[in-house]
Amino acid sequence: MSSQRVRRALCPGSFDPVTNGHLDIISRVAALYDEVVVAVFINQSKQSLFSVDERKEMLEEGTADYPNVRIETFQGLVVDYCRAHDIPVIVKGLRAVSDFDYELQMAQMNRGLAGVDTLFMPTNPEYSFLASSLVKEIAKWGGDVSSLVPPHVLQRLKERTGPS
Ligand code: PNS
Repeated sequence: MSSQRVRRALCPGSFDPVTNGHLDIISRVAALYDEVVVAVFINQSKQSLFSVDERKEMLEEGTADYPNVRIETFQGLVVDYCRAHDIPVIVKGLRAVSDFDYELQMAQMNRGLAGVDTLFMPTNPEYSFLASSLVKEIAKWGGDVSSLVPPHVLQRLKERTGPS
């Protein structure tokens, strides 16, 4: 018997800015679920290079080819967002074992808090070293990040970090 239930998943993160690694995970999640909500976390206590609106716009451009992906923002607990939007599962990319400790801790906490499960998706090995923080650092010092982010993000990085 087929179920009419919409299968929804959440991909939360800071996305400051979105990288090719994030987009790889999002595209693979989009192939597995009916609806994917990518949620940009509004973190007042963390200094970011791009505003929440800019991060959302870059994600929207980067996921324009996936009609079942939508970009939102959230503040507060990720499990409260899941509950409010009827999303039963969080999907996170895992780059390396070093990601695992913290991700497992959060996954177990979120499960304990609200029964929201987390599934881990291994990143493409091509992106196992890739992090937004490194991209920003390299771009700031004029390094080439063109293979790490999509062209529209590269452009924004140049505008933001280039000579003023
Ligand atoms: O891209 P990041 O910075 O690794 O994303 C981390 C994020 C936003 C997914 C994580 O910090 C989060 O879920 N924050 C929301 C607040 C929350 O629910 N904290 C408790 C987690 S157990």
